[in-house]
Amino acid sequence: MGRIYDSITELVGNTPLVRLHRYEESEGLEANILGKFEYFNPSGSLKDRAALNIIEQAEYEGKIKPGMTLVDFTSGNTGIGEATYANAKGYKFVAVIQPGVSVERSLILKALGAELLQVTDVPGFAEMLKTGLSLEGLGKVMGDFAKSKGWFYLDQCSNPANARAHIQKTGPEIWEDTDGKVDYVVQLVGTGGTLAGLSAYLRKKNPDIKIIGAQPHNKSLKNPEFPERNTIDGVLQFNGVPGDKVPTLFAQFDTHYDECFDVIAEDAYEAGRKVVQTEGFFLGQSAGAAIWTATQIAKRPEAKGKNIVVILADNAFKYLSTNMYK
Ligand SMILES: Cc1ncc(COP(=O)(O)O)c(C=O)c1O
Repeated sequence: MGRIYDSITELVGNTPLVRLHRYEESEGLEANILGKFEYFNPSGSLKDRAALNIIEQAEYEGKIKPGMTLVDFTSGNTGIGEATYANAKGYKFVAVIQPGVSVERSLILKALGAELLQVTDVPGFAEMLKTGLSLEGLGKVMGDFAKSKGWFYLDQCSNPANARAHIQKTGPEIWEDTDGKVDYVVQLVGTGGTLAGLSAYLRKKNPDIKIIGAQPHNKSLKNPEFPERNTIDGVLQFNGVPGDKVPTLFAQFDTHYDECFDVIAEDAYEAGRKVVQTEGFFLGQSAGAAIWTATQIAKRPEAKGKNIVVILADNAFKYLSTNMYK
């Protein structure tokens, strides 16, 4: 029997898990690399899950009603998801854009009808950035700004509905699609919602599952002094950083991870290019970094025959202006 969906919101999640045989072979790996292809979500990334869940939770709690304006601080993917579901549900959406993200993200947000603001448009934001972005500072500055405008602040960084999206859907999808045979899960971290949610769900199912994080290496961080430097867009360092830069969601969900890899942008780009050449999947930057990380794990003798699930957050279409595929 056929199926006709009622709304774009029904298409979020249930993304495919694909064994990357040809990539494994090209690298001489003896572990199984299983890519979770999050670009199959309607607006093209993993962040559709958090965006939809945050909006639906606020609706459920009676905090928002169609016609209202929603606002968030975003490096792009969450904003693109929030703009998409705001449209589908009758809200207006304003994105305060993180400086220095790829130009495609702003173009897509505009095309979706979102209003774009720079951090300089938000009182107190630029001052806060001078001392480094603190999550507490961000919540206050953005919360006050939203209040002054009469908008609802979606607050992806500390809204528990973000991590819960992965407890309710991404985690169970991985568990069911592997019949519980999952040994490692590899992901990068922006808000930390994915890692917090997957760690909470999967470790409850099997405390021996290894939760592997990855972050941009110091040499690959955005730096206004080196604007030409290659970076890994959309993700942040979370391991070995000061307490106020550790994702707020980690404390909320008592998050555990076993290891964190520092990834150099050029290695992430090369891993992404190798996947497109061997498998045909056209991956974004953090997905390339996740593949590189999974490859390091797969090369360890103890990983032989093990299943490594790799969260591939988005595809390459948003990175054509960067050096990844040049
Ligand atoms: C490309 C990309 N990868 C990974 C992530 C990490 O997701 P999370 O916010 O759940 O940590 C993000 C977050 O925005 C992202 O944009």
